[in-house]
Amino acid sequence: MKTVLITGCSSGYGLETALYFHQQGWNVIATMRTPRTGILPVSDRIRVLPLDVTLPESITRVVRDAGPIDVLVNNAGIGVVGAFEATGMPTVREVFDTNTFGTLAMCQAVIPQMRERQAGVIVNVTSSVTLASMPFAAAYTGSKTAVEGFSGSLALELGAFGVRVKLVEPGYGPSTRFTENGTERMQGLIPEAYADIARPIFAAFAQPQAVTCPQDVAEAVWRAAHDVSDQLHFPAGADAIALAGPQ
Ligand SMILES: NC(=O)c1ccc[n+]([C@@H]2O[C@H](COP(=O)([O-])OP(=O)(O)OC[C@H]3O[C@@H](n4cnc5c(N)ncnc54)[C@H](OP(=O)(O)O)[C@@H]3O)[C@@H](O)[C@H]2O)c1
Repeated sequence: MKTVLITGCSSGYGLETALYFHQQGWNVIATMRTPRTGILPVSDRIRVLPLDVTLPESITRVVRDAGPIDVLVNNAGIGVVGAFEATGMPTVREVFDTNTFGTLAMCQAVIPQMRERQAGVIVNVTSSVTLASMPFAAAYTGSKTAVEGFSGSLALELGAFGVRVKLVEPGYGPSTRFTENGTERMQGLIPEAYADIARPIFAAFAQPQAVTCPQDVAEAVWRAAHDVSDQLHFPAGADAIALAGPQ
């Protein structure tokens, strides 16, 4: 039986992906900063382990306790929306620490076991902001685009060892806790000078023509995890698929 380790399973896309892999009969190691009971079924195929991807000792512990991992899903992430000049560097660093360096550190921690077994898949969850630029998301886009470039190179480097690397690019998912989890971080990031240009942009954000639901992401992660071609990009959700254009 195969084992998937997923980061950021306390809500949203990560939680749905954990449920999906469990439904398909996999062993699931659902990791969370603060493990919670009651959000995943009680099952001998689900283990909930603590993991903060910004803490090296937390990563070392979870990889040691997890045992062999067939698929790593780097899903944990945080957002920030606002004018870049108003986004303090501590906030920019916080976003990169989680979205970029957290992902890179998790990859580095599991690559040795996958390389030795000559098998394994790493699925990095980025965002549709990497498919088409949008304003007021510069820091977040930077953090996710770095993972895109990193993953393309890593896929080529690890291919020789039978280890695959894939990208899942979800669109806007209003049903997750993503916006709520970023509310505090985003306070005061639209200074007066930007107010007029921001107003219609945020009005349009509030009325999206298409969105992504957690099930779209779970299914895309599943497809990516099983794909044996050299396809790197897996947009997830109607809005992301439209932005990506014909594949
Ligand atoms: N929703 C969207 O519109 C959207 C669009 C495109 C891409 N994405 C990406 O999709 C992924 C999942 O987002 P979501 O929409 O499902 O949001 P979410 O509901 O806020 O879930 C994010 C998860 O990441 C976890 N997390 C945050 N910082 C962490 C850290 N340092 N270590 C470990 N876990 C951490 C959160 O845990 P806590 O509960 O502990 O905070 C939570 O479980 C993210 O990478 C996000 O960038 C989201």
